[in-house]
Amino acid sequence: MTQKIFIKTFGCQMNEYDSNRIFDAVKKIGFQKTEKYEDANCYLLNTCHIRDKAKEKVYHEIGRVKKIFRSKEKPLVIITGCVAQAENEEMLKREPYIDLIIGPQSYHKINDTILDHIKKKKKFEVTEFDPISKFEYFDKIKNNSGKVSSFLTIQEGCDKFCHFCVVPFTRGPEYSRPFNQILDEAKYLIDKGAKEIILLGQNVNAYKNKNHKLSDLILEIEKLDSVERIRYTTSHPRDMTDDLIDIYKYSKKLMPLVHLPVQSGSNRILNLMNRKHTINEYFRIFDSLKEINSNVEFSSDFIIGYPGENKKDFDDTLNLIKKIKFINSYSFIFSPRPGTVASNLGLIDKSILIERLEKIQNLLFENQMTMNKNLESKYINVLAENFTEDKTQVFGRSEYMTSVIFNGNKNDIGKIVQVKIKHSNRSTLFGEKINDSNQKVA
Ligand code: SAM
Ligand code: SF4
Ligand code: F3S
Repeated sequence: MTQKIFIKTFGCQMNEYDSNRIFDAVKKIGFQKTEKYEDANCYLLNTCHIRDKAKEKVYHEIGRVKKIFRSKEKPLVIITGCVAQAENEEMLKREPYIDLIIGPQSYHKINDTILDHIKKKKKFEVTEFDPISKFEYFDKIKNNSGKVSSFLTIQEGCDKFCHFCVVPFTRGPEYSRPFNQILDEAKYLIDKGAKEIILLGQNVNAYKNKNHKLSDLILEIEKLDSVERIRYTTSHPRDMTDDLIDIYKYSKKLMPLVHLPVQSGSNRILNLMNRKHTINEYFRIFDSLKEINSNVEFSSDFIIGYPGENKKDFDDTLNLIKKIKFINSYSFIFSPRPGTVASNLGLIDKSILIERLEKIQNLLFENQMTMNKNLESKYINVLAENFTEDKTQVFGRSEYMTSVIFNGNKNDIGKIVQVKIKHSNRSTLFGEKINDSNQKVA
């Protein structure tokens, strides 16, 4: 019998990648994807544990499913992702509606676990860290996500243990996939129509397999003819090595947006967070990159109100944003995570947190607005990804990851299109295609 699976994904791009790979696996035992969750026989939630809100969403979502299926046959409920790893059997106790818990480094066991559950009518929790077996298994199952812009995980896990972060506990120690395994997956994605490859890792620039580094991987993928754009995320400042900085000099396909989370502009807070770098070191990376390639722009992640952050620390962050003029950045109020060093530290008053978050976001939005306004009346290269939801226009992205909407047609999808920007808001550029597809701006 064909089973229908509904997959809901929370969290980061790696979870999106994983959800696609999980589907590639469960297809082998007869599952088809459905976008209507009331039709599903299997409900899979791929979860995120990064902040408390992200975790609570999971339980709310299960509550919703319970209501919808009250008068129907109960679907098989599977929890994957970082909450599955962090809470494991606690989840089964808190929410008996859940059938299976599968952690991020055990996805290669998903089919056997589902079949075992059906046979033995038992609940299972599978949370071993076994990334080698996982990637070997998925290497044999092709990545059929088939998007113009495709994610490709090259590295997982983290050994850095920033004091606020759960990732080292949920994704396990740093692991880099074999070089050729990644190249094979990249080739397959490109054969299937991918024009942009986004290399993923929790510490993507810490990638190291034998003598191969991230820069080698980028230069090798760049040789594949029909790939147009390469990106990588998320990087750590400590792993921004000279060889990686250097390729911004000559790479034709590496995009000029560097997403390099800094978290805070204060050395004191960076030290408390255990980030293991200073603001001066961050500036050195920024200056080197700008000197090599003046088109490079930076985006970042910021944590607001880390325990102990005083007015001066916060002002240092504002000043850093003013100097670097980050675009496309994210900011979050500190959320204490169980098991981390910062979980028991004194929290800053909520009203101060909200005020600081608003200030930071206004400044970041201003940078983004200015960047977008400066593009009005200019021609930019857009990688056309898809139609807009109402199917009347085409959606794509600029080299700096900003969304662009323009008057394209189906022949544009998957191509670099030259678009004249007519107007903009903070998050989107609106423009008109000025000639046929594949006409790049010099
Ligand atoms: N490895 C990346 C780095 O070193 O910056 C970050 C990966 S983490 C998945 C993504 C972002 O979530 C972080 O950059 C940080 O800003 C945010 N984050 C992590 N833990 C957090 C916490 N406890 N509270 C608020 N934001 C958090
Ligand atoms: Fe989390 Fe990134 Fe720090 Fe690792 S380096 S602990 S993933 S914030
Ligand atoms: Fe969330 Fe795990 Fe990604 S905690 S941000 S899904 S690595």
